[in-house]
Formats: sequence, C-alpha cells, structure tokens
Amino acid sequence: MKVLISEKKLAAKVKALAKQIRNDYEGEVPIFCGILKGSFLFMADLVREYASECEIDFMAVSSYGNAKKGSGVVRLIKDLHINVKQRHILIIEDIIDSGLTSTYIKQYLKLRKPKSVEFVTLLDKSEARKVKIDIKYVGFNIPNKFVIGYGLDYAEKYRQLPYIAECEDEERLK
Ligand code: IMP
Ligand code: MG
Repeated sequence: MKVLISEKKLAAKVKALAKQIRNDYEGEVPIFCGILKGSFLFMADLVREYASECEIDFMAVSSYGNAKKGSGVVRLIKDLHINVKQRHILIIEDIIDSGLTSTYIKQYLKLRKPKSVEFVTLLDKSEARKVKIDIKYVGFNIPNKFVIGYGLDYAEKYRQLPYIAECEDEERLK
C-alpha cells in the first residue's frame, strides 16, 4: 500500500478548508450535507474544525449496478431530514471522479429551492471528469488512480485507514 496523503497532511488541509468556509459563510448557518458513506470521516473532522454554527445532515446514493456504472443513473438510498428551502447547502464529498453522482445530487437538491448549493470535496480526480462541474472547495487534486482510506473504500474495505493510499493490485485481489 502506497500512502498518497498522510494523516498530517489531511489534518492541515481540513483545517484550512474549514477556515475558508467559515470566512465565506460568516453570519450564516450552512447545512453540511455529507454523502454517505465515503464522506463520514472527512465530514466529522471538517465540522469540528469549522467550529461555528452549522447544521448537519446526510444523504446516501448508489449507482445502479455495475452495468450502468458511469451512466449517471443514481438511486437515492437515504434522503435529508432537514428542510433546505432558502438555506445554504454545502455538499460534502469524499471524491469527485466522473462528476455524475455529484451532478445528480445537486440537481436533486436544487428542486427544494435552497439559497445556494456548493461542493466541498476532499479529493478531485479531475482527469476522470465526464461532466463539467463547479467545485467551490477542493482539498487535493489527485491523479486518475484508485485510492482508499479516510472514508474511501475498495469493496467496502479500508474506509478506516487514517490516510489516503493508492489501492494496489494486492488489495484489489484480497
Ligand atoms: P463519480 O460519480 O464518478 O464522481 O463517483 C463518485 C463516487 O465514486 C465517490 O463518491 C466514490 O464512492 C467512488 N469513487 C470514485 N473514485 C474512487 C476511488 O479512487 N476510490 C474509492 N472510491 C471512488
Ligand atoms: Mg464506494
């Protein structure tokens, strides 16, 4: 396993992102909407560093099977609890890859007439993008390689790693 982003680098970046968001949303109470499951560790660290008034909710989505992978067809598994009408929403993502899942989520949330919807992603794999997407807050730009750890899985494993690592063939075969 090759470590791509250490625990220390993650912590420093999360702190910087939280500070930037806090400055931009001063006087507001944004809703941090974490996309499960991948965002759970990033979300937990980000809101603790944010240390200002905010509300927290989660959504879970899933792509329709493998056959349609990359088709942008997304199934909603868990919806938000909070009413987002006229509220500022921050969608918290682990990684934006093709951008298809994120685009679906944003379109879905916009139907509820929020005041604003912006993306915060820890990782941006922009080389793999299939649709244009504006991301307001990006942690790290990474090459088009499969990564695991800090919430990200390979077949539901490795989410608990405190760092981001490149998923090598041995891990994929396990
Ligand atoms: P997108 O719709 O292609 O942008 O897919 C985003 C989702 O695919 C993420 O929320 C992850 O669950 C998953 N994903 C994309 N790339 C990786 C990766 O390198 N490691 C683990 N999961 C990934
Ligand atoms: Mg996954």
